[in-house]
Amino acid sequence: GKGIAVLTSGGDSQGMNAATRAVVRVGIYLGCKVYFIKEGYQGMVDGSTNIVEASWGSVSGIIHKGGTVIGSARCKDFMTRPGRLSAAKNLVDRGITNLVVIGGDGSLTGANLFRQEWPGILDELVTQKKITEEQRAKCGHLNICGMVGSIDNDFCGTDMTIGTDSALHRIIDAVDAIVSTAYSHQRTFILEVMGRHCGYLALVGALASEADYVFIPEWPPEIGWPAKLCNKLTQEREAGQRLNIIIVAEGATDRNGDPITAEKIKQVVVEKLNQDTRITVLGHVQRGGSPSAFDRVLGCRMGAEAVMALMEASPDSQPYVVSLDGNQAVRLPLMACVEKTKAVAKAMAEKEWDVAVQLRGRS
Ligand code: F6P
Repeated sequence: GKGIAVLTSGGDSQGMNAATRAVVRVGIYLGCKVYFIKEGYQGMVDGSTNIVEASWGSVSGIIHKGGTVIGSARCKDFMTRPGRLSAAKNLVDRGITNLVVIGGDGSLTGANLFRQEWPGILDELVTQKKITEEQRAKCGHLNICGMVGSIDNDFCGTDMTIGTDSALHRIIDAVDAIVSTAYSHQRTFILEVMGRHCGYLALVGALASEADYVFIPEWPPEIGWPAKLCNKLTQEREAGQRLNIIIVAEGATDRNGDPITAEKIKQVVVEKLNQDTRITVLGHVQRGGSPSAFDRVLGCRMGAEAVMALMEASPDSQPYVVSLDGNQAVRLPLMACVEKTKAVAKAMAEKEWDVAVQLRGRS
C-alpha cells in the first residue's frame, strides 16, 4: 500500500484530532500505511520516534479532545535546505510519498515548496549517499493535500476552517457568563477576542450574543468613532438595558491604522459616559476545550476527502486544499487559495478594505 503521513502545524485548533483520525482510518481502510508525524515539521526534520506508524486503535478516543494529540510546532529548521533534506530522507526511508498537512496558510505554503523541490532534494540525497538510487526511483513524486486548521477563519476558499465553530462556542459562552454579572452591576464590558487580522470571530460572536458594538479589522471605523459608540451605548441604556457589551477583535484598527484596543475603548466609555467598565481578554480559552459537533464532523469529512485526493493524485496533478463549499467538502487548488489569502492581507495592509472583503468572499 501507499505510504501516507499526517502532521499538524502552526497554532492548534479544535477538530484537528477528528481530521487526523479520519486520515488514519480512511488510509488504513484503503490499504495504505499511515504514519503520524509528531510535533509538526520539526518532527519530520528530526525523524526517529517522531514518525510512527498509526494503527486503527491509535486514533480511538481522540475525536472529542481539543488541541492536537500529535503535537504542533512552529519550525525554523524546515525553512532551511538542510532541514528539508533531513525531512525528505526521513520520509523516503519509510516509503512515505503522500503528505497531509493540517495547518494555516504558512504551513501549507511550506508543504508546497517541499513538493516542488522534491525530485532535486532526492538527487542531492543520492549524491550524498544518504538514500539509494532504488529508493529514489520508488519515491519519485511527493503528493500533498492540505486542510486548514485555525480558529480564525481567515483562509480564502473555505466557508469554515477547522476550529472556528468551537471558538465561537467559547466566545458566546463567555459573553453569556459576563452578561449575568454585568447585569447585576449595570456595567459595561469590553471583550477582546482572537482572530489575528481577521474579524470573523468578533463579528459572528457579536451577532450571536446580541452585543451592542463590535470592532473588526475589515471595517475600521472613522476617526470620530468614540462619539458614535457613546451614542449607541447611551441609546441602549435609555431603552432600559442595564448593561453594554462591546466586542473588539485583537486586530482592530481605525482608518489611520492605529490599533483600537480594549483599553482605548474603556478610556472613551469611562471619560465620556462615566460608566462602570471592565475588560475581559478571552485569550487561549478560545482555542481550547472540546471541539463542537460541527468541527468534529468537519474534521472527519475533510480528512476523508484529503486521503481520497491523494489516492487519485497523478504525477502531474496539482496539490489541493480540502475546503467546505456550501455543505460539501471539495478540493481546491492549494496555491490559488494561498495566493488569494495573501492578497487579502496585502489589501488590508494597503487600507483597501473593500478589496479585502471582496477577496475573502464567503468566508
Ligand atoms: O491563529 C490562531 C491564533 O489563536 C490567533 O487568533 C492569535 O492571534 C494567535 O493564534 C495566538 O498565537 P499564540 O498561540 O502563538 O500566542
